Amino acid sequence: MKKITKAIIPAAGLGTRMLPISHAVPKEMLPIVDLPAMYYLVKEAADSGIKDILIITNRDKDAMEDFFDLSIEYEKALAAKGKEEEIRMLREIANLANIYFLRQKETKGLGHAVGRARSFVGDEPFVVLYGDDIIFSETPVCRQLMDVYEKSGKCVVGVKAVAPEWVSRYSSLKIAPVEGSDTLFACDDMIEKPKKGEEFSNYSILGRVVLTPDVFDIIDHLAPGAGGEYQLTDAIAKKARTEGIYALDFEGERFDMGAKIGFLKANVVRGIAHPEAGEEFKAFLKAFVKTLD
Ligand code: UTP
Repeated sequence: MKKITKAIIPAAGLGTRMLPISHAVPKEMLPIVDLPAMYYLVKEAADSGIKDILIITNRDKDAMEDFFDLSIEYEKALAAKGKEEEIRMLREIANLANIYFLRQKETKGLGHAVGRARSFVGDEPFVVLYGDDIIFSETPVCRQLMDVYEKSGKCVVGVKAVAPEWVSRYSSLKIAPVEGSDTLFACDDMIEKPKKGEEFSNYSILGRVVLTPDVFDIIDHLAPGAGGEYQLTDAIAKKARTEGIYALDFEGERFDMGAKIGFLKANVVRGIAHPEAGEEFKAFLKAFVKTLD
């Protein structure tokens, strides 16, 4: 079985739920305290053993490219101020992985975005990190999924039980427990954004999947799905129905950076843990909470 060394991060969506800021800043570059969301995705992939990462972008890719690049001019200015630690930090970010960029050109859905990565992936299994799903965990979530793939050779999707009223915004999976595990399920069908009555369960795919390269043939023949977009879930559903896949209820806390509430929560959670600003922020929050009704 081939080792997984490649990841795709689709980040070319319109980000309409984060307007107006997403008109000028891709939601994947919105900060969680002092790091953009995209940093956490690249770091998670790198910490999972991924070497090559393809970020699918639209017209706003410059900020992403700059963030993961070295800037000799900037380093010179930092060196002149004796800021060696800051230089080290920026170099560490630039050296996380080999990062490539590709434009989706037309915003036709997550399935379409992933389909653009065919030549990057070649004939290897790969992981997809949805660009607006940030997950903080003990073991990187990609690694958790890759471990299941490496034992089974089957596609694996990261799932969580979501509140029943949220299932219609995500996907719904038909799953059955795998003997001997509380977190691993066999999955043989799924539906994207189910209407009332179409749900299989309240388990939804949240942000991470491991796929085998034959999925590109399925993507190439997708018909537009929910919302008129080419849905990655529809391609994975075909794999689930024909050969079965695994669903892993991963360990980790997920924040939807594509939604205002997810963005705010992520900043509070990371804010109180921040080595520089955390203590003062926590004291502020404690006092502030007392002023709320
Ligand atoms: P979403 O559906 O959450 O992103 O896609 P969106 O379309 O930007 O969301 P709205 O407009 O707020 O509803 C999940 C991930 O897939 C990427 C997005 O950037 C996001 O990271 N995506 C989505 C693409 O790369 N291309 C697409 O055509 C659609």
